[in-house]
Amino acid sequence: PIKTILDCDPGSDDAVAVMLAALSPAIDLLGITVVNGNRILPKTLENALRVVQFLGQDIPVFAGAETALVSGLIKSRKPDLPRVTRNDSHGDYLQLPEATIKPQPVRAAQWLVETLMASDGDISIAAVGPLTNIALALRLEPKIESKIKQLVIMGGGVAGSNASASAEFNFYADPESAKIVLDTTIPTMILPLDATWRACITLDQCTDLRAIGTPWADYTADLVELRVRGLQVNDLSAHNSELRHTPGTVSSTLLYRYENDMAPVHDAMAVAYLIDPAVVTEYIEANVDIDIAGGIADGRLVVDLHNTKKGAAPINANVAVNSDGQRFYELISRTFAADGAR
Ligand code: BDR
Ligand code: CA
Repeated sequence: PIKTILDCDPGSDDAVAVMLAALSPAIDLLGITVVNGNRILPKTLENALRVVQFLGQDIPVFAGAETALVSGLIKSRKPDLPRVTRNDSHGDYLQLPEATIKPQPVRAAQWLVETLMASDGDISIAAVGPLTNIALALRLEPKIESKIKQLVIMGGGVAGSNASASAEFNFYADPESAKIVLDTTIPTMILPLDATWRACITLDQCTDLRAIGTPWADYTADLVELRVRGLQVNDLSAHNSELRHTPGTVSSTLLYRYENDMAPVHDAMAVAYLIDPAVVTEYIEANVDIDIAGGIADGRLVVDLHNTKKGAAPINANVAVNSDGQRFYELISRTFAADGAR
């Protein structure tokens, strides 16, 4: 199994990612580190503990960063942005019994450093929230850079955005951390909105999930339905592939079709990719960077699609631009058919 650490901010799609990582026989989930993101840390931490307790597995959970690295210092950013603007695809607390299990006594960044430094370089990380914990760990001990086998990040958008006109939530919530993490030689796969929106789960598939009859399949159906309803509240007509584009250009491959009976489950795709890389069907090897100027492109993932830097800047990430939604769904349904015993 792939030794994996999951960094997350549950969050409804984060919860599906946790269940997928915990239940997949292909993954050895070493621990879950939790970050401020979809909600404040006390809530995301409680939610992570609720999911672990629900699974009945002995997976250590670590509290991470309470705030973004420097966001409060950038005048153009609102202090509590962007949590307060989130739609209701998450809710404050997951609808699971209150956690009686406790987080570990060590904080996330410290544990990441200790665990990675003691490893043989065989640990992968799936990071599906703002990247504050990973950036803090890199600042504490830069040597972890060469110890991470693979980093799979859910974040950013090539054509897409969702927290501002420019940026996706995870990068918008802590642009400096995203920049610190991407400015490394860690083998990195970014799963941006362009890839995750192409693997939406539908209400019909929720019915099929319920038919499986395990608690995790049932609960995933609840979460996806919550997400579908959350999206219906917004006017997402702009997400339709009616967007004008010139056939044959790069941008035409970056558009996706959305109908109002479906929702993306972004974070689960990062775990799915570790288990089965074929869920990503197209990706770009590129130099990528993050805008941190605090202006209209704050937190924007900048992908040098046309290699304009001509080798002057490193190819520092693979960026997924297409995915196999059917394969993604089948992986989830197959994994959640398991009885939970590992
Ligand atoms: C990301 O933002 C969060 O709301 C989700 O959990 C996901 O990690 C998608 O932009
Ligand atoms: Ca998340």
